[in-house]
Amino acid sequence: MKSTEIRLKNRPVGLPKASDFEFATVELSDPAPGEALVRNTYMSVDPYMRGRMNAGPSYIGGFEIGKPLTGGAVGQVVKSNDPSLQAGDLVESFLGWREAFVAKAKALTKLPQLNAPPQTFLGTLGMPGMTAYGGLLHVGEAKAGDVVMVSGAAGAVGSVVVQIAKAKGCTVIASAGTDAKVEWVKRLGADYVINYKTAGALTTAFAKGAADGIDVYFDNVGGEHLEAAIALGKLNARIALCGGISIYNAAAPPPGPRNYLMLVGKNMRMEGFTVARFASKRDEFLSDMSQWIAQGKMKWEETVMNGLDQAPEAFLQLFKGGNTGKMLVKLG
Ligand SMILES: NC(=O)c1ccc[n+]([C@@H]2O[C@H](COP(=O)([O-])OP(=O)(O)OC[C@H]3O[C@@H](n4cnc5c(N)ncnc54)[C@H](OP(=O)(O)O)[C@@H]3O)[C@@H](O)[C@H]2O)c1
Repeated sequence: MKSTEIRLKNRPVGLPKASDFEFATVELSDPAPGEALVRNTYMSVDPYMRGRMNAGPSYIGGFEIGKPLTGGAVGQVVKSNDPSLQAGDLVESFLGWREAFVAKAKALTKLPQLNAPPQTFLGTLGMPGMTAYGGLLHVGEAKAGDVVMVSGAAGAVGSVVVQIAKAKGCTVIASAGTDAKVEWVKRLGADYVINYKTAGALTTAFAKGAADGIDVYFDNVGGEHLEAAIALGKLNARIALCGGISIYNAAAPPPGPRNYLMLVGKNMRMEGFTVARFASKRDEFLSDMSQWIAQGKMKWEETVMNGLDQAPEAFLQLFKGGNTGKMLVKLG
């Protein structure tokens, strides 16, 4: 069986270009003992992949020039040579950016039996959802009555942060990059939402929704958003540093928040984290999420592009605000 895969052709400078990727078709062998052949049905594109395209260290491991890219994917087992899997099983892997592959069965995770479409395990019920859950509750320590601020609120992670915060009894102030996204985030339950592109100075804009300040900031964006959160933080406020998409394509890293010394006087904590930290909390996460879904407290959207050839463009659209909810590529 043949499979087309996408490889990194050049290390991007600034915003990646289509020419930084190349396509190759490979012949797959039959699965050896302990292996299975899987056809991907959906693959994920995620902002963190941008850092993996650079030379130098990355917290997940960098991409290599001329080698296929990797990332989250869900697919169906076509042929198995391992007793733990059967043809037809739905599995999650880290072998996206390709149509099909042969891998060790232990590198595949059978999708949980939850009443949700398989691709949800790449979004709300997968890595982005777990990032939101762990970052908000375990790093940000959000609790009932807190004022939670979240940027990138119409994205895969941010939209889950908004809804978990509401389910926990918090007030939520949020930002997104278009008026349509702002309306969607309000429908998810956020109390006050700004369009950060048209709102003017962000500290002033967010302050209108949080007159007494904020207790928790979940940062997906960095830059001016982070400075606004520091300025608005109450005594003992927490910042859960999840990502900084506003600077991922910067040729040289910009200086950090100019007002960081306010953290001192406010006894504020700013803590970075990666989702891997919460691996042991997966059952707790899925159990809470199932309940919130059943109670109508957890909703999601997907932006889906069709075909492997669209994967580079789907990835680039993350930096242009092209997605509402999770950005996915449908394969097959
Ligand atoms: N720490 C971890 O383990 C971990 C795990 C997953 C994700 N993350 C991070 O979490 C963040 C969100 O990831 P995601 O998967 O949920 O992506 P996403 O929000 O679904 O997609 C990216 C969104 O970022 C916004 N954006 C792009 N450029 C921006 C800019 N210059 N300023 C402000 N917003 C901008 C766009 O929305 P607008 O239209 O609103 O601009 C875009 O739709 C990223 O920083 C990612 O790296 C971290």
